[in-house]
Amino acid sequence: MSASLPPILVVDDEKNMRLSLQTMLGDENHAVRAVESAEAALKLLTTEEFFMVITDARMGGMNGYELLGKVHAQWPDLPVLMITAYATPKLAVEAIKAGAIDYLAKPFAPEELLHAVSRCAERYRLLKDNASLRARAGEVYHLEQIVGESTKMRELRQLIQTVAPTDARVLVLGESGTGKELVAGALHTMSQRRKAHYVRINCAAIPETLLESELFGHEKGAFTGALRQKPGRVEEADGGTFFLDEIADMSRPLQAKLLRFLEDGTFTRVGGTQELRVNVRLIAATNRDIVKAIAEDQFREDLFHRLNVVQLRLAPLRERGEDIVLLAEHFIKMFSGSMNRKVTTLSRAARQKLLSHHWPGNVRELRNVIERALILETQHEVQPASLPDFQLETRLHKDTAPRATGKESLDEIVATFERELISQTLEQHHFSLTRCAEFLKLSRHALRYRMQRLNINTATDADDDTPPVPAVREVKDQ
Ligand SMILES: Nc1ncnc2c1ncn2[C@@H]1O[C@H](COP(=O)(O)OP(=O)(O)OP(=O)(O)O)[C@@H](O)[C@H]1O
Ligand SMILES: [Mg+2]
Repeated sequence: MSASLPPILVVDDEKNMRLSLQTMLGDENHAVRAVESAEAALKLLTTEEFFMVITDARMGGMNGYELLGKVHAQWPDLPVLMITAYATPKLAVEAIKAGAIDYLAKPFAPEELLHAVSRCAERYRLLKDNASLRARAGEVYHLEQIVGESTKMRELRQLIQTVAPTDARVLVLGESGTGKELVAGALHTMSQRRKAHYVRINCAAIPETLLESELFGHEKGAFTGALRQKPGRVEEADGGTFFLDEIADMSRPLQAKLLRFLEDGTFTRVGGTQELRVNVRLIAATNRDIVKAIAEDQFREDLFHRLNVVQLRLAPLRERGEDIVLLAEHFIKMFSGSMNRKVTTLSRAARQKLLSHHWPGNVRELRNVIERALILETQHEVQPASLPDFQLETRLHKDTAPRATGKESLDEIVATFERELISQTLEQHHFSLTRCAEFLKLSRHALRYRMQRLNINTATDADDDTPPVPAVREVKDQ
């Protein structure tokens, strides 16, 4: 019966009692470890797993009630059964209130004991099953939330799956709106720390003067307004995950303190002298160009190396190809559910319009565009007229000539420029390849070849030479 159960811990300072408990439980195939003091029990509990504790109430040294209190505080899921020779209803109530699962008065019948033990065994199994169910559900759910089937997104999900269960620090980089927060959340829920707290601090949203006390806490009177002691958010995250968002916005002096914290997990509250220590896994993110921030002396290079144990880079949406459509459909489903709308998908022309946009605001922008479209749309399919006039926005973002940044090769810069130019021209010509090719003074074949090379969706009017009628009509309707 107890093959899958860890042992029971028996605590009693009377040798005979220990022996008789060991026999009773052993006869039912329970593994037992017996110790003669509460102190020894606490020590053993830190190194071995038990599914329950059976303790005598009165013992020399720490008594059973104190042991119960400590066990309950540290291992709240571990059931404790109290045994005493001096049973009174009042003591029984006290024991149960203090967290004992049950209370047996000496002398007791073996069945009474075994009954209590089997209830604990059942409870242990339930808790285990539940935890593994939750873990599995969490994994699937949270990776599925990250929509996208492009190679980049598949690789990202794979990497998250590999890195999440480790304690490695992760630096998440990517333009604004690419999904960095989503990734940080998934890393936590798929980690061993999922049951502990996930604390997120946005360094850009908190005034510089308050950020340190927010992170590390302060002592009473540390500064004007510090009326009482306040623990830091890192303490809240103890045992869990600490997500520092917009890390590049942190001031240099605070970066030095963070560096120390990352070196050995220690910190001091503002105005305090005591060195405190916590165990947190750190995830950091920024949408700024961190290399540039280091070059300009705004960000400490040593801190960057400490944070950059694993780097996850989120590609801009415009480089994720068909994912734009998948995400749009995902948001359509999401919003039509919450807004109670009957819109189910994108029309062909709307799809083309989305595919040719530059998406400077990435997934967040797409999400907002779809939300707005669902408010405006009267048909079952999203029509281009319900989407914003991207041409205006496109022009806003593209009037500047490309410039070398030192990070990309000439070929990459030219490819980006060419991709944008062709996408823009396609949009201007309502996605007619023929007209776009004429406009660019290319053969239709040459244009298709370039689009394929540049990863631009070629399913416009690729199969027939006449532009798709609905597309033209709908776009004109705007
Ligand atoms: N791959 C994705 N699948 C589904 N939803 C996504 C995906 N990526 C981002 N989102 C959604 O897009 C929105 C913006 O994402 P998020 O807040 O994670 O961006 P961010 O990278 O943290 O941006 P910022 O740098 O501006 O803080 C959120 O609503 C998020 O749920
Ligand atoms: Mg964010």
